[in-house]
Amino acid sequence: MKNEIPKKNRKKLLFPSGFLWGSATSAHQVEGGTNNQWTKWEKENAERLAKEAKTKWQPWQQEKFPEMFEAQNYISGKACDHYNRFEEDFDIAKSLGHNAHRFSIEWSRIEPEEGKFDEKEIEHYRKVLMALRERGMEPFVTLWHWTNPLWLEEKGGCENPEFATYFKRYAGLVAEKLGSNVAFWITINEPTTVILNSYAAGVWPPQKRNLLSVWRVYRNLAKAHKSAFEEIHVKLPNAKVGFSHIVTFFEPYRRYSIADLLAVKIAEYFGNKKILNMTKSHNDFLALQYYFHRKLLFPWHIQKERLVSDLNWEIYAEGLYHILRWARRYKLPVYITENGLADAKDEKRSEFIAASLLWVHRAILESIDVRGYFYWSLLDNFEWDKGFWPRFGLVEVDFETQERKVRPSALEYAKICKNNELEIEI
Ligand code: FCB
Repeated sequence: MKNEIPKKNRKKLLFPSGFLWGSATSAHQVEGGTNNQWTKWEKENAERLAKEAKTKWQPWQQEKFPEMFEAQNYISGKACDHYNRFEEDFDIAKSLGHNAHRFSIEWSRIEPEEGKFDEKEIEHYRKVLMALRERGMEPFVTLWHWTNPLWLEEKGGCENPEFATYFKRYAGLVAEKLGSNVAFWITINEPTTVILNSYAAGVWPPQKRNLLSVWRVYRNLAKAHKSAFEEIHVKLPNAKVGFSHIVTFFEPYRRYSIADLLAVKIAEYFGNKKILNMTKSHNDFLALQYYFHRKLLFPWHIQKERLVSDLNWEIYAEGLYHILRWARRYKLPVYITENGLADAKDEKRSEFIAASLLWVHRAILESIDVRGYFYWSLLDNFEWDKGFWPRFGLVEVDFETQERKVRPSALEYAKICKNNELEIEI
């Protein structure tokens, strides 16, 4: 008798019907031709960032991504020219089985001068929304993905006590003009990331390191979200409004160390909980974003893991499950509005997506109300102070020719999206 090699058992994990599948982008990172505080800062800091790459990144990263030493890498410029190519990009997303898409509206285009709203740009975003609707993709609209119009930045940006008032006016206008095509609104993207990087670590514009600024911006962003939440509901009573929140999975490095456990409590409070407390009863859903797992060895964290992305960020898909369990207490529907990794050679992405979704599925089996998953990002794009070298895209972009190339992992993810199920080997 011939020895039969047993076929591996396969199991299909079905997702709830109506589950939203897609990817996310943000205006400044993909559109090109923006004119906001980042555009200005990039020009002023590109040379410095290129020089600092030598000390900032590991030798293997420097070797793999020599573009990090070029000032040009740090200037968003034309980015992916998505402002002009959104239809082509949405065709790709549709062909990949996406039934939803998250993008952001660029405030500096809508209100380039204080109180003056640009009808042409509103019309542009109307076309963007129509293009999504025509392709059967549910839009998730972010109103603020970290970029301020220059007039606002000159008045102190997020620290201005009137920030929430300005934001409410802008949010109200967009809701009024574009609301008929939008059910899901994300007011603000990751408030805690911008607070940390721009006002505590001082590495992003306006490069402050000041506790008072941290406090002001915490307060202003929470207030901005709450005012926009109310204003959108006045204009659109049925709208669903939330803000996207990066949640880190913290663990003690030494399981029985009081100091490490205390460090976890403090980090969880300031990183994960505080902003949710501050916006209590002003969220129709949770928009969670997961990138980081931190093992805390009082008072810092240490990273020893071998499996890392091109950014040397640890790859730990299981963390998504833990943050979903943590989020259960808020008793709100959950959308994962960002989760992804930089992987230029596309060696780890497929497995990462499948592993992440396996954990999402497990959370759903435990009755956690997860309703959608948006991979970051549809396209390779401009990764803030790191520039163009980290490649997060399901679709590779040649920034010289603007040619798009669908990565193999995008096709694997497409199978999951199209079938509403994840097939695994057991
Ligand atoms: C998130 C940001 C997004 C992108 C990814 C990698 O924190 O919201 O714009 O930079 O990280």
